[in-house]
Amino acid sequence: MSTASRAAAGQKLAEYNNNPVNVLQIMRQIQLQAGCVDADAIEMLSDGLGIPRAQLLALVQFYSFLHLEPRGKYDLYLSDSITDRMLGSLETAEVLTRELGLSPEGHSEDGEISLSTTSCTGLCERGPAMIANGHAIQRVDTKRAKEIAKLITSGIPVEDWPVVWKAIDDVIVKKGPLLGKTLTPGAAIERAMRLGPHLTIAELEVSGLRGCGGAGFPTHLKWETCRSIDADQRFVVCNADEGEPGTFKDRALLNQYAEVLLEGMTVCAVTIGAKTGYIYLRHEYEFLRAQLLQHIEARREAGLLGRNILGHHGTDFEVYVYMGAGSYVCGEESALLESLEGKRGIPRIRPPFPVTRGLWGKPTIVNNVETLCYAAGILEHGAAFVMHKGNEPGWKLLSVSGDCAKPGIYEIPLGTPISEVLAECGASDVQAIQVGGPGGELISEEESGRLLPFDDVNTGGSFIVFDSTRDMFDVASNFTHFFAHESCGFCTPCRAGTKLMAQMTDKILDGHGARLDIDQIHTLNRVMTQASHCGLGQKAAVPILTTFEKFPESFHQRMEDVDYKPAFDVDAAIERSREIVSEERSS
Ligand SMILES: Cc1cc2nc3c(=O)[nH]c(=O)nc-3n(C[C@H](O)[C@H](O)[C@H](O)COP(=O)(O)O)c2cc1C
Ligand code: SF4
Repeated sequence: MSTASRAAAGQKLAEYNNNPVNVLQIMRQIQLQAGCVDADAIEMLSDGLGIPRAQLLALVQFYSFLHLEPRGKYDLYLSDSITDRMLGSLETAEVLTRELGLSPEGHSEDGEISLSTTSCTGLCERGPAMIANGHAIQRVDTKRAKEIAKLITSGIPVEDWPVVWKAIDDVIVKKGPLLGKTLTPGAAIERAMRLGPHLTIAELEVSGLRGCGGAGFPTHLKWETCRSIDADQRFVVCNADEGEPGTFKDRALLNQYAEVLLEGMTVCAVTIGAKTGYIYLRHEYEFLRAQLLQHIEARREAGLLGRNILGHHGTDFEVYVYMGAGSYVCGEESALLESLEGKRGIPRIRPPFPVTRGLWGKPTIVNNVETLCYAAGILEHGAAFVMHKGNEPGWKLLSVSGDCAKPGIYEIPLGTPISEVLAECGASDVQAIQVGGPGGELISEEESGRLLPFDDVNTGGSFIVFDSTRDMFDVASNFTHFFAHESCGFCTPCRAGTKLMAQMTDKILDGHGARLDIDQIHTLNRVMTQASHCGLGQKAAVPILTTFEKFPESFHQRMEDVDYKPAFDVDAAIERSREIVSEERSS
């Protein structure tokens, strides 16, 4: 019997008033306090919350930061994102394993230390990064890894490790209207109230604001649809999951512009008629939670949140911070809503879209952090807020990392050439740029005249630079493993396809690849793009195939039979089998 997990479960159940809605929050707290959510804790939660044990077990198995077996007293996750690897995370792992005497699986003999990898911690410009007992630790190079090993062997708690390691500041390199102008708390809400929903949405339309989370969907259309559905309740949800490797601009906004975000959420609420909002914050950003709660409290005291906002009787809006528990796919809006409802983050079948049937089946706006911040600026200053040269509208935040002298946050006008960003961030000897994360576009240096979001090269914010010393196969392999790790497993094409692709990548890495493997990845890609349930499965083959197309030599040196041609044309075979089936049907 695990007394620690039982005690934690009892305490958390009491804190959350046995409210089943908060099951994931309760489990996350138990994990942090007791090191696991084991069978004893599950039994107590099942009794206390009235949720079947199998359902609770499935939750623990779904989220990567929840565990059935106890993790060590020192619970370490080293970020395995490509940007961390470029900054030396493999060497860091080696030092920690050696200095702490860990097994290849990352355990100390006494079970006091656990070391694993995790997909991406959102500290891409300050890696190698680590999450230690829930604390984000930056710049864990080999020197810092040795210091960490010493602290652990001396029994120093993570809470007492040097503050500077945990002080995550944001390097804002280039400011546009959002990062450069100071907004007055309450001014945007006041104007939105004065204009009313119709004109507020019209202002967003003139501004051309599009969703900054990746899809670029026009924000005014979303708000208008949500508002116009007949419903007794509506919700505003801020997507602060930011799991796309190479993206950290939302982290900076949450850290330094939380006031603006809350203003934008409240503008949205008064426009669509919502009384409740949630900020879905990724587990890795725990260090931002307390200050977000402080901002919420301060705004409540200032009459900008809570009951009768700005003295308007009956205009009420509460915002809650809800923590994720480790799942990239929970950034997909419908998966995020499932997670908010305390379930596994499996994307829903769409339509219906969240704007018509979202949280608890009610119309819901899910917007990215940045989108809501721009909405605040636009409502305070009018659509002119986002106009730039030639009176063209629209700006976008980029998170720039990788091989460049000035990594950080850049606010750029829409339509900026990639080459301009490269010059500004001090990138030289550029080989390639990954724009939009693993599922985005790999751009070779020759293509750097192409334009940034939304209509040419799209991105939710990730911009990773690779110089000529980088092996582009390693990059593609890292991205392919990322998808295999993050597939939620709901649909077979993605669950099996991402694993198969990772295996084939490993085979090529080991020098046993063949042209046939690439052909098979093409075939898998066709199945996955057509039959996968969400964007993750649909994009999973993109890195390997585009890298093969644009940097074939990085594959050729590892392949046994570069010139191999399959004995038959796979496409023609599929087409012919379709014809046979239809001939049989018609006869
Ligand atoms: C696998 C996957 C992961 C996603 N992750 C995020 C994310 O971390 N943050 C985000 O804002 N949008 C993410 N999205 C996009 C959301 O589904 C959604 O389009 C977005 O939150 C809408 O907000 P916007 O209109 O303001 O962009 C993701 C989509 C997919 C398919
Ligand atoms: S495509 Fe992948 S991530 Fe998306 S629902 Fe299917 S299994 Fe899950």
